[in-house]
Amino acid sequence: MKIAVVGTGYVGLVTGTCFAEVGIDVTCIDIDQRKIDNLKQGILPIYEPGLEEMVTRNVAAGRLHFSTSLAESIRDADVAFIAVGTPPGEDGSADLKYVLAVARGIGENMNSYGVIVTKSTVPVGTAAKVRKEIEDALAKRGADIDFDVASNPEFLKEGAAIDDFLKPDRIVVGVASERAEEVMRRLYKPFLLNGHPIIFMDIPSAEMTKYAANSMLATKISFMNDIANLCEIMGADVNKVRLGIGSDARIGNKFIYPGIGYGGSCFPKDVKALIKTAAENGYQMQVLKAVESVNENQKSVLFSKVQQHFGSDLAGKHIAVWGLSFKPKTDDMREAPSLVIIDKLLDAGCTVTAYDPVAMKEAQHSLGERITYAKDQLSALIDADALLVVTEWPEFRSPNFEVMGRLLKQRVVFDGRNIYDADEMEKAGFAYHCIGIRT
Ligand code: UGA
Repeated sequence: MKIAVVGTGYVGLVTGTCFAEVGIDVTCIDIDQRKIDNLKQGILPIYEPGLEEMVTRNVAAGRLHFSTSLAESIRDADVAFIAVGTPPGEDGSADLKYVLAVARGIGENMNSYGVIVTKSTVPVGTAAKVRKEIEDALAKRGADIDFDVASNPEFLKEGAAIDDFLKPDRIVVGVASERAEEVMRRLYKPFLLNGHPIIFMDIPSAEMTKYAANSMLATKISFMNDIANLCEIMGADVNKVRLGIGSDARIGNKFIYPGIGYGGSCFPKDVKALIKTAAENGYQMQVLKAVESVNENQKSVLFSKVQQHFGSDLAGKHIAVWGLSFKPKTDDMREAPSLVIIDKLLDAGCTVTAYDPVAMKEAQHSLGERITYAKDQLSALIDADALLVVTEWPEFRSPNFEVMGRLLKQRVVFDGRNIYDADEMEKAGFAYHCIGIRT
């Protein structure tokens, strides 16, 4: 089998590399020449644990190729994945111009049967638009070539992308023909050895599944953040409540950690897009609107705690920040709560020194020289009035509190991810503020 993957962002690059890893011949295509040149040399546009080694290994084995030519790569591909970006437009709806441009390119260049699969998160109805675009391009050339479209949403998490792809909980594929189903079943066979299912369905249901999954997960987080805020007011401890409800298998103990709001390139964008799609079709997603507004609020919670502790005049305070990326094990800064928190601190007249194990370079694109970047986590603390823990990187979990106390000007910690124990912090002489526990 030969496949082409168009778009070398997170999803495209991981998809292409993992298919190569199981022995399939893969060409990854991108219009960005520099990106492709770099990838050929094993230089990746993103940080994802294990991915660089896997790319290098598969390029060396001759199974993974990179190209800027859609025309050449598409000709003899059995399956073409469209994994280009769908950036949110001003109104929150997903912009399909890249997806449809790729579809047109495929129609202009394919010369035998193939399955064209949307892998990017796309609104319900997109595969039908892709089909139309390809049909039009084929008609223009007077070509009579059979093809199928399919929808195969991706559920991988940044920071755990390779594992999620190689050992998926499930694979969802929307198809409209038995032939396409057969091709997709054959393609995914190597990934289903752990007994998890491949679920075939109609195309609109597959497209909807992705939005429903991300919206449900975003809802869990906002719900827990709401509960956490109420716990604080009522004198309950959200950590205990989390354990208490998580033991009920119907609720589950995963994805119910309160914090400073969800970020990243997926939840904020997909929640917005689903609200928008629904409204366009005359339906109001009331729960999701609330999910969004709770999340917006939650990004300010840590800053409000800083104000409660120091008083509303924060001018001249020096604040250390641990963690900038929207979550650990990624350098992704998109919609990162750190950006909102740091903006608020700077607006209030604070100075900020931050440390992040991998995201500092990426963070500079949005924060520039407005803050100082520390060379390691301890030096970020020197002379700071307080530490804010913004991303729960593993290396922040068990620091030497004695050393921390000596470096900080004041023993004050605001923990946006509840990674420390309130009693332990109190014993170590810290004023400790976290989420969902009155301290
Ligand atoms: C998310 C989904 O989990 C993936 O299944 C999906 O494929 C992906 O979006 C996508 O649409 O491409 P991702 O954005 O990489 O993956 O990150 P998550 O690990 O899901 O975290 C999202 C946000 O929720 C982060 O800001 C994280 O800090 C926050 N979160 C997560 C919490 O605040 N509490 C939790 O208990 C879990």
